[in-house]
Amino acid sequence: MSSSPDSAAVSREWWKSAVFYQIYPRSFADSNADGIGDLRGITHRLGYLQQLGIDAIWLSPFYPSPMVDFGYDVSDYCEVDPIFGSLADFDELLARAHSLKIRVIVDFVPNHTSDQHPWFLESRASRLNPKREWYVWADPAPGGGPPNNWLSCFERVGAAWTLDERTGQCYLHSYTPHQPDLNWRNPDVCAAMERVLRFWLDRGVDGFRIDVPHRLIKHSELQNNPPEIAHLRTAYGQPVPGLRNLNQPEVHDLLRLFRCVLDAYPERMAVGEVGITDLPEAARYYGRGDELELVFNFSFWAQPWSPAAFARVVGEVERTLPAEAWPAYTLSNHDLSRAATRYGPERAQVAAVMLLTLRGTPFLYYGEEIGMTDVQLDARWTNDPDDRDGARTPMQWEPGLGAGFTTGSPWLPVPPTARTANVTTELQDPRSLLNLYRRLLQVRCRNRALQLGSCETVLVNDAVFVYLRELDGERLLVALNFADHSTTCRFDDLKGTYLLSTHAHIDPGEHASLPLRLEANEGIIIRLEVSDGTPSATAVSPSPTS
Ligand code: GLC
Ligand code: CA
Repeated sequence: MSSSPDSAAVSREWWKSAVFYQIYPRSFADSNADGIGDLRGITHRLGYLQQLGIDAIWLSPFYPSPMVDFGYDVSDYCEVDPIFGSLADFDELLARAHSLKIRVIVDFVPNHTSDQHPWFLESRASRLNPKREWYVWADPAPGGGPPNNWLSCFERVGAAWTLDERTGQCYLHSYTPHQPDLNWRNPDVCAAMERVLRFWLDRGVDGFRIDVPHRLIKHSELQNNPPEIAHLRTAYGQPVPGLRNLNQPEVHDLLRLFRCVLDAYPERMAVGEVGITDLPEAARYYGRGDELELVFNFSFWAQPWSPAAFARVVGEVERTLPAEAWPAYTLSNHDLSRAATRYGPERAQVAAVMLLTLRGTPFLYYGEEIGMTDVQLDARWTNDPDDRDGARTPMQWEPGLGAGFTTGSPWLPVPPTARTANVTTELQDPRSLLNLYRRLLQVRCRNRALQLGSCETVLVNDAVFVYLRELDGERLLVALNFADHSTTCRFDDLKGTYLLSTHAHIDPGEHASLPLRLEANEGIIIRLEVSDGTPSATAVSPSPTS
């Protein structure tokens, strides 16, 4: 049985029980009618987020950038791009968020800079420039061509090397040629980037989302990738493929260094975008509690809509992660097709219940709570080097032109579905997805077992995924029906009351009766009665008929 950590640990480790909300600044709220979201826009909307019930926001990059990769090509780590506002606007956002008890983490993009960053402009100026070794330079292959067979992560880019005519060498770029990779084997780079972390920590941020940390260190001799896997652009798929341009052992020294910097400040954290689906390997990025606090689970969002598939990932997490490592789950972000599009809008409610009731820190993506879907864009609108614009369209605040996002013309179009899928309309409808999120977040906030309790799978079949969350004798049963038809689950013994259902036929407080019936696409949370004073998971024993 799990028992509660003491209150000092709970506040130090606030990120374990927190729900995060990712904001893509370009697309959240535009305060000055130029059609592009900005920091002041976000500040104005913080009240909405507080009422929604989230605990922390993650801001995607808002730093000066030529915007080739929409801010993931940074040309100054310690400033705000004028399109998003100023440092003063950032300070105001942070102060307002903190006054509403919302923590703020910012994106740290250490693998590469923009090719317009002064460091790279110097580095490429001559082979003898003092900043030459800040980036990864290599001679072309004999007879010309790239120095080795490494590929960019973006299919469209091809090779990860570009020849710089002036100095006759190639520089490495894991993404576009406008994003040269920094050389993290150079201590000067470490020192400079440590100053970047301190700059934001001193301003008061609560932590960082770290962009592609598994890519920071490359093979020291820049050796070719083995021919049989040389076509792989990422480390997705099992087991970890042994690529030499990512996941090198020395990367863990860097993560310990970051952790030391963060640990000098109270209650700070980092979550890493470790794009590795091999869980034991990804788990190494937690270190021994001395690297990342959280590592995004890259398998979770990639599952098909199947209870067995999600139960398998969750089971693996529960078995594999060491005690000090805490899971982090997400279904949507700015790089993925939105979950409501991948799985279908009718599944958004069950998906929400699952995301917000598993053992681990959930990350929501702006608009997920109102059921935003990907927007099909014609060529006129697509600007992203990897075609991700469709999942980055403006937040839908209200019906009408501009959707309350802007009074100007939005940088990406608002789809016709915004007429109904928007904050204002959904707030008025008690059965809306937005109101389900609000209820779910309330239930989660009031029930410690949902935040910090153990998680044990009770039943998985073709239709349902049922699990038990337990803390200090408090036991909550979550039952999710993935099927488009109703189903019943039989348990030998089950007494409890409903805390929540996605569907209208059940009211909170109602007694649960056996057999447990679930409507199509229904998710429920039941608080179980303590039967004999020594509650255990086996008290809920499934008889697998459904
Ligand atoms: C990460 C970001 C993605 C970006 C890439 C390069 O994967 O999430 O948006 O394109 O890194 O910075
Ligand atoms: Ca603006």
